[in-house]
Amino acid sequence: MQLLPGFSKNIIQWYHLNKRDLPWRNTNDPYKIWVSEIILQQTRVLQGLPYYERFIATFPSVHDLAKAPIDQVLRLWQGLGYYSRARNMHVAAQYVSLELHGHFPSNFDSLLKMKGVGRYTAAAIASFAYKEKVAVVDGNVQRVLSRIFGISEDISLPKTQKTFEVLAQKHISDAHPDQFNQAIMEFGATYCMPHNPECNACIFKIACFAHNHTMVDKLPVKARKTKVKNRFIHYIVFQYGNQLAMKQRNEKDIWNGLFDFYLIESENEMQEFELNEHMKIFNVIEKPPYKVSNTFRHLLSHQRLHVKFYHYLVNEKQKIEGLGLNFYSLEETEKLPKPVLLANYLIEQNFI
Ligand code: ADE
Repeated sequence: MQLLPGFSKNIIQWYHLNKRDLPWRNTNDPYKIWVSEIILQQTRVLQGLPYYERFIATFPSVHDLAKAPIDQVLRLWQGLGYYSRARNMHVAAQYVSLELHGHFPSNFDSLLKMKGVGRYTAAAIASFAYKEKVAVVDGNVQRVLSRIFGISEDISLPKTQKTFEVLAQKHISDAHPDQFNQAIMEFGATYCMPHNPECNACIFKIACFAHNHTMVDKLPVKARKTKVKNRFIHYIVFQYGNQLAMKQRNEKDIWNGLFDFYLIESENEMQEFELNEHMKIFNVIEKPPYKVSNTFRHLLSHQRLHVKFYHYLVNEKQKIEGLGLNFYSLEETEKLPKPVLLANYLIEQNFI
């Protein structure tokens, strides 16, 4: 594998001239860096910033996070998706707070023992907080390295990660591993983007393999495309006075722990008469719904959700509570952690 002398020095220099001023870059508190890195795995910097600010304001220390009820953590995470990451953070915070008495793990290997911390996150915390010389490899880094060095291994294969780690580790700065890692990620996020990168202004234009071989739009190679599955979800919204019937999900899926409404899933779009049949089977209600929403479409990484809400007004609670639902006032509903499309529905219908 070919090395590029000066790569580290040049990219760090570029970073100092071009970096964005971001709050997690002005600290070496491993707790704050950890929070920022988990949030930034979910989302882009601009969308992640307010989540980071709220999270740190609500839980200024790892002890505050460890002591918080999980519902409060999930509520703060609402809209970021991948709620297992928030649940893992809560478990990891308890490990640091209780078992390690608040002493945050202080090197790459011990960081890996925290739930939800993989090689990328451990390398980020170890380098940013402790200046450990360990290279980070995320999607940005893979893109930058694959283009500049001409690596055409398939990034959807796990073994390719090792190739990039070895290459990045060969170039990481001895004196400033933290700046090298920040720099290469920043370069990928703001210059060497997936589409329309800034090749004309790029400091590596002369050296870049992809640029020299007109392969910028061919690298990195990702052979396996994720298959997206359609799911048709019908939410039954029972309203009693100013209360709505909700349940906490305990299916081991991405929404585990969040609150939602009574749910019916079907293979296809459901016709109204089929819905009425369902309601009869459950012996709950026979009349048609008071209101039916438009279809909300929501794209997750592997699923395209088609969600419709059927709003029923009821004057009796018992049968509905028999379905495993509890009634919550609108104020309580607002505070519960919910999938963001439910929150959007509640806002759109002026419930909250
Ligand atoms: N994406 C992941 N980590 C980041 C960081 N520390 N700064 C900016 N973007 C990032």
